[in-house]
Amino acid sequence: VEEAALAVAEHTRWVDDFPTAGVRFADLTPVFADGPSFSAVISALASAAPDAELVAGIDARGFLLGGGIARSLGVGVLAVRKAGKLPPPVQTCEYTLEYGTAAIEIPGDSLSLQNRKVLVVDDVLATGGTLGATVELLERVGAEVVGITVVTEIEELGGRARLQNYPLTSLVRI
Ligand code: PRP
Repeated sequence: VEEAALAVAEHTRWVDDFPTAGVRFADLTPVFADGPSFSAVISALASAAPDAELVAGIDARGFLLGGGIARSLGVGVLAVRKAGKLPPPVQTCEYTLEYGTAAIEIPGDSLSLQNRKVLVVDDVLATGGTLGATVELLERVGAEVVGITVVTEIEELGGRARLQNYPLTSLVRI
């Protein structure tokens, strides 16, 4: 975990006023593109919930992390999509972003998620809107969220408070 945190701190590119004025964007692209860093990050995040039976990765950078973690744990991966990408039927949840509103979706009836232990992963926790909506969706279809894990947590935006019913780990807190 320590090695992963150092790699993240070294390779994160911080961008002021993106995508809107006043927002400081954590671009993890260079972290993922560096082999040793990506490997360390995947190992550290996978240790958050070793008993997970499925990993749910959030659009879009959570897909990269989710695939790696699922492979590491030997379980399947679920892509939690931005609205409009999946064919019907879908389960949808709207949420408020740090900048604007959005909705996410998962397949409505093709998965048996009842009582499945799910680890949810994303790159960044900001206000917690995205992760909160994902947890709501997964619980609506009967899944048990056994952990939430992110690379970077922006503490001043208070996302952790919205997710306090779940074990939440982050590699780097700023
Ligand atoms: C970013 C990030 C998280 C979310 C965190 O995604 O990847 O998913 O914001 O913000 P929150 O905690 O306030 O909900 P973004 O909206 O930039 O979408 P993208 O992954 O499609 O670029």
